[in-house]
Amino acid sequence: MKRTLNIETVKKIGEEVLLKGWVGSIRSHGKLIFIDLRDFSGITQVVFTPKMDEKMYSLVSEIKPEYIIEILGEVSERPESMRNAEIPTGLIEIKAKEVKIISKAKTMPFPIDNDGYEINEKNRLEYRYLDLRRDRLKRNLKKRFETISLMRDIVKEKGFVEIETPILSKSTVEGAREFIVPSRNFKGKFYGLAQSPQQYKQLLISAGYEKYFQIARCLRDEDPRGDRQAEFTQLDIEMAFPDSEEDVMSLMEEIYIKVVKEIFPEKHITQIPFPKMTFKEAMEKYNTDKPDMRKNKEDKDELAFYWITDFPMFEWKEEYKRWGACHHPFTLPQETDIDKIKKNPKDILAHQYDLVLNGFEIAGGSLRTHDIETLTACFEVMGHEDEDLKKQFKHYYNAFEFGIPPHGGIASGIDRFFAVALNEESIREVIAFPKTGDNKDLMMASPSNVSKKQLKELGIEISEDEE
Ligand code: AMO
Repeated sequence: MKRTLNIETVKKIGEEVLLKGWVGSIRSHGKLIFIDLRDFSGITQVVFTPKMDEKMYSLVSEIKPEYIIEILGEVSERPESMRNAEIPTGLIEIKAKEVKIISKAKTMPFPIDNDGYEINEKNRLEYRYLDLRRDRLKRNLKKRFETISLMRDIVKEKGFVEIETPILSKSTVEGAREFIVPSRNFKGKFYGLAQSPQQYKQLLISAGYEKYFQIARCLRDEDPRGDRQAEFTQLDIEMAFPDSEEDVMSLMEEIYIKVVKEIFPEKHITQIPFPKMTFKEAMEKYNTDKPDMRKNKEDKDELAFYWITDFPMFEWKEEYKRWGACHHPFTLPQETDIDKIKKNPKDILAHQYDLVLNGFEIAGGSLRTHDIETLTACFEVMGHEDEDLKKQFKHYYNAFEFGIPPHGGIASGIDRFFAVALNEESIREVIAFPKTGDNKDLMMASPSNVSKKQLKELGIEISEDEE
């Protein structure tokens, strides 16, 4: 017999069905035993009575929460007093005829039938595959999937093409700190894990892929916080020949308005079109470049999107005692005079825009420099010698010499958007297998030691105090 999903039982009153799933709560009322059977579609109440086969009935007493079982039974309407309007299958129950235990389960290390906020997060992350059984996380991951599908549909409709770009890439001075990966075949040399598809998407533009997008994984060796992970996901977009920043910004705005309307209809957006504020104004008024512009901060359903524009091109990096790019070095300065760029880096603004939601930066992008002189000038401000650059960014300089159109783009950190939209405090609640605050994967016990043999193969020696 073919399996019926819990959600489908309501259409099968009077019929015999075969259900398979996880055991939720078990309740006994005298000789009647009730089990809530859970599958990915929902919950169904199953009733066992002594009228069923004696052997089968005695098997029921062996069943414990989280066992995986199979039930053959009849769908019947519940007596009126037993109906539950809060779940889609609350009008029916299954009168069990046969039961089979498919897989037994040990006692759970923590409750999974609540939202789980009170449980120590380390335990939750160590047993993430159990933690993921809870309804709240299932809801989060389903919403995440629905949103990403919708995002893909919206940009596909507008002629954007999704193109995957490498994760194993090259270590460059572009921006955030990268993870590096040793290689067995090239001892002493390292790949850099892509911190974003930035350079690849610009090279795709030079190749004539005028409307690129990707749901992209990014890897950054940063100090993590509640809204940061070493591994995170972007909706990454790039386009050729934008008339202005507005073309990129209005696309991202349209995507988020549709997403909220279709996937989070209970939410209301404070203002449409999304208001804009310059970086200078934001710093003067709010002393931050990501002000929380909600009208009512008590309202959990308010979404205050806001654009911050006209960022400075360069910022002073005290750690390195030199100028660095505020966004990244490929951003187009608003000043076209190269001498001015070199002489007054602190006064140069950039064609850069960030999208802020309830105080979180959920997207950032810019128009890009597409002539070599300006690009070189920007790198020089950042203290990179011509030779050094030509070596590190050879591919990039070469591509420019073969022609590249004006272009611009943006990337949205979708984990951050989900955290806000799902009223979660941390992005860890919207990622299936997140890392801890200090970048550990507690479930896999990673990072971990590797064998001496592996290290030898890679030509790596670990100094004793690091072992
Ligand atoms: P940027 O570095 O600003 O730009 O990143 C874009 C967006 O990604 C999100 N984000 C993160 N989310 C979770 N964890 C992190 N560690 C993390 N770091 C960033 C933020 C941010 O706004 N290539 C450029 C984009 C472009 O210019 O097109 C880039 O990656 O929401």
